Amino acid sequence: MDGEAPADLVIQLGKRLSDGTVERGIEEYGRILNTSAIEGFTHEAAVHISYEEQVSVLDDGTHINLRKPRYQVTDLSGAALPSSTVLMPRMPPLVQGVGLLELVPQSELDSLATRKQSDRIKGHVSRINTAQGIVIGRFGWQATEPTVAAQTASAFAREMGLTTPLLSQIDCGHYARCDTAAVGGTPEVEADLFSALVFFQQLHAVPAEKTPDYASQGQLLFDRLGCSACHRNTLPVTTSARVSTVIHPYTDLLLHELGEQLADRDVEGKPVRSEWRTAPLWGLQASVKSNQPLRLLHDGRARSIEEAILWHDGEALGTRERYARLSLSERKTLNDWIAER
Ligand code: HEC
Repeated sequence: MDGEAPADLVIQLGKRLSDGTVERGIEEYGRILNTSAIEGFTHEAAVHISYEEQVSVLDDGTHINLRKPRYQVTDLSGAALPSSTVLMPRMPPLVQGVGLLELVPQSELDSLATRKQSDRIKGHVSRINTAQGIVIGRFGWQATEPTVAAQTASAFAREMGLTTPLLSQIDCGHYARCDTAAVGGTPEVEADLFSALVFFQQLHAVPAEKTPDYASQGQLLFDRLGCSACHRNTLPVTTSARVSTVIHPYTDLLLHELGEQLADRDVEGKPVRSEWRTAPLWGLQASVKSNQPLRLLHDGRARSIEEAILWHDGEALGTRERYARLSLSERKTLNDWIAER
């Protein structure tokens, strides 16, 4: 399945700093490497993916194939990418349930982060520096966005080159010449349209769980292996009318380190320090039922729930090892249960 990167895989760009962390965006090409452009403009580059097959051997001798992506950037419209450039491939984040995740009180996330966990599981709240001070990030694969509105404004600015009431600057690298493109108003996405779009996403429901049975075999295995230490079954939400209830998103919205294999890399292939927000598992049934090939994890490399689990390392090493010790029928029970969330 080597070839052009799929159009829905966004290649974000960063700069590797000397301490191994990443600063987002590079001067030459901005925050996103645009592989397409509107009429009259040229795309910034082409991105090619090739996969290296890797085998994971479970304790009962079963071999599971995992595919590890490699990215090659060609056809650059400007200068070569500096060697410190980090390529950060990202699948589009799921929209379902985001309005509810926004209502989880910040105090809950703080207390989850300080709770003593078993194993080596840590997890911390994503704190983002903004003009308004430090805010808590909850959205995006690395919890880089505090709200649905902020995520939407960033997507408009970076992926579509449109200004919004929240962001008056688009993401324009040196070579894209997008700053010479016609301006469609100030802002280009007007306040009414912008808030309607944010509202639409906030109300986008998660499909109901088929078996909300918290004593089922699948749930018991999920808890026993330690998956729910990060993929938390239940979180409280408080609405603006001060109504309190709970949701079952299977996430803690915290950042975790999942090992070098999943980390982003610079153009020379060196891994950078990468932390990931626990991906919510609710609504997975919609992807399973769509009959489209599954593309799980931040870069879509996992073709099944089992492959996604076997990529877990770092803080989740213990849970992966316990998974590898399960019998075939236990693995099936767990994977089927996850596919129904
Ligand atoms: C240390 C925290 C942690 C533990 C423990 C953990 N996960 Fe995860 N899980 C994550 C993070 C973080 C991601 C997102 C990784 C990424 O962005 O590539 C994830 C992603 C996933 C995904 C892919 C979801 C998607 O939408 O792409 C599945 C499925 C999953 N985990 C299942 C499990 C199961 C089953 C277990 C127990 C065997 C488990 N996880 C244990 C943190 C954890």
